[in-house]
Amino acid sequence: MATIDAIRKPILADLDAFDEFVKENVTAEGDLMREMLTYALSSRGKGVRPMLTMLCASLMSATENSNAEEAGKERHSSKRTYLAAMLVEMIHTASLIHDDVLDSADERRGRASVNAKWQSNMAIILGDFILARTMALGMASAQYDIMSYIGTAMATLCEGEVLQSQHARNLDTSRDDYFAIIYQKTASLLGVSAALGALSVGASREDVDRMRKFGEAIGIAFQIQDDILDFNRQNNTGKPANNDLREHKITLPLIEVMERKTEEERKEILELIKRCDKDESAVDALQKIVDEGNGSALAAQTMQAYIQRALHLLSKYSDTPYRTALMELCAYIAERDR
Ligand code: FPP
Ligand code: MG
Repeated sequence: MATIDAIRKPILADLDAFDEFVKENVTAEGDLMREMLTYALSSRGKGVRPMLTMLCASLMSATENSNAEEAGKERHSSKRTYLAAMLVEMIHTASLIHDDVLDSADERRGRASVNAKWQSNMAIILGDFILARTMALGMASAQYDIMSYIGTAMATLCEGEVLQSQHARNLDTSRDDYFAIIYQKTASLLGVSAALGALSVGASREDVDRMRKFGEAIGIAFQIQDDILDFNRQNNTGKPANNDLREHKITLPLIEVMERKTEEERKEILELIKRCDKDESAVDALQKIVDEGNGSALAAQTMQAYIQRALHLLSKYSDTPYRTALMELCAYIAERDR
């Protein structure tokens, strides 16, 4: 079983330096703002995005140095890498704070969401503050190439959120719609996290693009696994199972099952989904339909195809501890239960 600790191992020093960098830079004035910010930053989750940025930066540096005398000794992870990692992590943090407002979610990572603790209006301002504070840091550092990726990633996240809401309202999510949504809301930012790692150490255009594709492939896989876990009532995510159904989000395990049903059966399923926000018996019935139709196993097969694509993209690089860690990250994404 791949573990986060094993993935972090070759970049532990960088991750410690990164934590310090965040602590020093993402600060606020005023008691309440500081209290809310500390709360939001104290439970940042697994830190997959900054880890990805650091590992891709190190992978590129190790690859570039592999023919040089100092092979393997220099890594070049720098302030520029930390800045990129901070930006992707803070966009992610702000987007989840806003997402919990939009979804009226009371819990995040096993504790009260910011909106549950301080109300939605404060949560919106806190998310805005985190974005504004980190954008100001990015602009002050004059790393405009990085900022251009970051701006695009933020816009794509917003588009994904709106697309998802639109389909949840209309109850009409096809397989293509689903992939468009998860590309925008998850894969795009993971793609940018990986690309910026490479860009931050001066990798070639080709390598930056390859890392972006790598990040996007694991991003799609990551979101499919998230959606599978939502149908697993024994998961350890810290979020109640079946929330997607209660929010009328039609995800891959259900889509796989629906595609194998008759038109009549699909209509009945849609009737059940409509009731999920206020009727737990409809939620139970859909969980049973997905279980009996092997929806999660079918979705897992699709996820594995993206993992294979990601591993193939890594195969171009020489065997270094960073490549091993990225391969472990692929395995972790596919196996995780939290
Ligand atoms: C989680 O989805 C939400 C996202 C991955 C993106 C949310 C994006 C926005 C709210 C747009 C705002 C963007 C910025 C840059 C502030 P989910 O609800 O499926 O997952 P969950 O179960 O973890 O809540
Ligand atoms: Mg949500």
